[in-house]
This record gives sequence, C-alpha cells and structure tokens, in this order.
Amino acid sequence: MDTNVIFYLDNAATSFPKPREVWEAMEHYFFHVGGNPGRSGHRLSHEASEILFNTREALSHLFNIDTPERIVFTKNATEAINVAFYGFLKPGDRVVTTAMEHNAVMRPLRHLEGTRGVEVKVVPADSQGVVDLEALGQALEEDTTVLVVNHASNVAGSLVDLEKVGSIAKGAGVPLLVDGAQTAGCYYVDVEAMHISLLAFTGHKGLLGPQGTGGLYVAPGLELDPLIRGGTGSNSEREEQPLFWPDVHEGGTLNVVGLAGLGAGVEFVLEQGVERIRAHEGRLFNSFWKGAQGIPGLILYGPERWEERVAVVSINLEGQDPAHVGYVLDRDFGIMVRPGLHCAPSAHKSLGTFPTGTVRVAFGLFNTEGDVERVLEALDTIARRRDHG
Ligand code: ALA
Repeated sequence: MDTNVIFYLDNAATSFPKPREVWEAMEHYFFHVGGNPGRSGHRLSHEASEILFNTREALSHLFNIDTPERIVFTKNATEAINVAFYGFLKPGDRVVTTAMEHNAVMRPLRHLEGTRGVEVKVVPADSQGVVDLEALGQALEEDTTVLVVNHASNVAGSLVDLEKVGSIAKGAGVPLLVDGAQTAGCYYVDVEAMHISLLAFTGHKGLLGPQGTGGLYVAPGLELDPLIRGGTGSNSEREEQPLFWPDVHEGGTLNVVGLAGLGAGVEFVLEQGVERIRAHEGRLFNSFWKGAQGIPGLILYGPERWEERVAVVSINLEGQDPAHVGYVLDRDFGIMVRPGLHCAPSAHKSLGTFPTGTVRVAFGLFNTEGDVERVLEALDTIARRRDHG
C-alpha cells in the first residue's frame, strides 16, 4: 500500500484541501494589492478595504445578516467567543451552556467563574451527545445573561436544533450565543430565523478559508466592551477607541490576506450551496456508518440519523487505544484523523469515552466514496490484527 498517498479525514480540525479560488485570492492580494485597509488612503489601501467589505458581504449573505458591519473579524472561533464573553459578562452574571461545549467555550467560562464570579450552569447531554432541550429550557431563568450552545459537537457530530433553541431563548428573553465552528458552511445557519444574538465562526473549516480567520456576529442592540483596543485608521485624532462597528472591535491591522482567502471560500460555499454540501457529506456519512457495522469490535458514537448530526464521527475499536489507532491509520494507511479528547473533555464524559477519547473521522466537501472505502478497509484490518501493532 502506498502510504505516501494521503487520505485526509480530519476536516473537523481544519478543512483540506482548499478550493483553488481560495489560494488564488490570497495570491492576488500578495502580488497585486498588499495595502493596509482603512489606513493610507491610496489605491492599494482602498483595494484592501474592498476585500474586507466583500468578505463581510459574503458572510452576511451566508448567515442572513442585515448588518455586515456587526461582523467582527477575529483569528478563529475561540477568539470570537472570547471577544463575546469578556466584552459581555459582568460580575455575578449567569450563563447557561451545555455538556457538549468545546474548551473554546469552557475555558473562558471557567476563568470568568473564578475572576468575575460568573455563574455557569451546564445542561447535560446523553451518551450519544444529544443535549436535553427540555432541561435547557428549564435551566433558563429571568436573569440568565446568555445561553451558549455548540451548534454541532466536534466529538459526537450531534446537532442542536437551533430553530427550537432560538425559540426557547427568545421566549425566555435570553440572548443566544452559538458556537458555529463545526457547522458554518456545512449546515444552514440563519441568524434571524434562529434568533441568534451572537454567532462565533471559524474560517478554516466548512468555510474553506485559511487558518487565522474567523469572526463574531453581534446582533444590533447588543454592545460589548472591546477585548483589545488600538489603531483602526478611523477617528485618529482621538486616543479613545471609536465606538462604531466594526472598528470598535478591530484594533490593529487585520489578517487581510487570510480574509481575502476566506471571502473566496465563502463565495465558493455559496456557489456550491450549503444544501448540496450537506447532501454530499450525508452520503459519505451514511456509507461510513453502514460499512462500519461489519467491522468487528467497532463502536460508533453519536446519532445514527443524518438529520440529527454532521459528518464528524467518533469511533473506537474495542480494546485498542484511540491514540494508537490514529497513529496506525497514518503510518500504515496514509489516513489522517484526530484521536483523543478533541479539546472537549465534558463531551467525552457524556459519551463515556473520557479520558482516552475516541478516533474521530471527519468528512468534508472534497472527500469521496473512495475515501470512505479506504478508511473502512483500514479499520477492518486494524480491528482484525492480533498484536495491535
Ligand atoms: N476544534 C478543532 C477540533 O475539534 C480544532 O479538532
């Protein structure tokens, strides 16, 4: 077997490959633009501003956002979540969240618990990673400051029904913050229909952009203290941060080359259509799930029905260490997956896979049925090996 041929099944960590349009847009910026947006007033600076404008527009189109200026660019979803939490939460505030959250949510919340006395209530999930929505509704109180949910688990692939959760949050008068890291570009997200007040997304997964890109949408009416302050090219006569969006939260030069790539990635997603992308990933997931049934000792986690999940699939081989299985998949078969805890300890506790974790297979837009066959074959071989070497 030629293990120099790569089978990339780690799209939940970062998508690969990227569409040609993405690196062409980045190359174009590097070769022909290069200016600093909003700064110098010359044509290359204006062109750079236009790139940011177009990327914000494309994202607004994708998420049905009417106010593109309320998308703040960040370097990833983690930074977006930090901008939201540190800008919004005050001493004594109350947060309701779920057991399926990533450390991007839990670490800042635990820190704020310790430093600002923020109260954190965690709603449980079952052993398939499905959050109990009734318990979630009951956990919300009049004085809950914000409800935080992971749209799809990066461990179990389980989706939260955002239309239902959005209605629950709206009914309780509580702003809803969604961690869209695993769904942006792969699943329909509409901030209006889903009553999303804050949407954190990353650029380098389903949106097919480069690493170092992401953002936070903040609905009109919600104001946050900036996490960082600095030069924006606007109101330069003043030493105070401008209060208008997005400048209030975008101190310092942005990752323009990355955001050029992100804009092209989002355009690509819009051209393909989120529904088509989802249907493709659904076919791959169904083939994988079905094929996995025949592998001795293979344990599958997360919902079986495609309607309840995304194409991020955690598995284990009975009696085998997931870290070792991941290593063997790479070494002997050229298959890239992510084993371990996936920065989500509480999600693994829900699944009963803490502390060793799982082997995570995550399909993306550029995977094929051939990739599914290859990983199934490889897992079957590893499962049947006596010495587990
Ligand atoms: N959060 C990313 C993952 O789940 C990096 O792999």
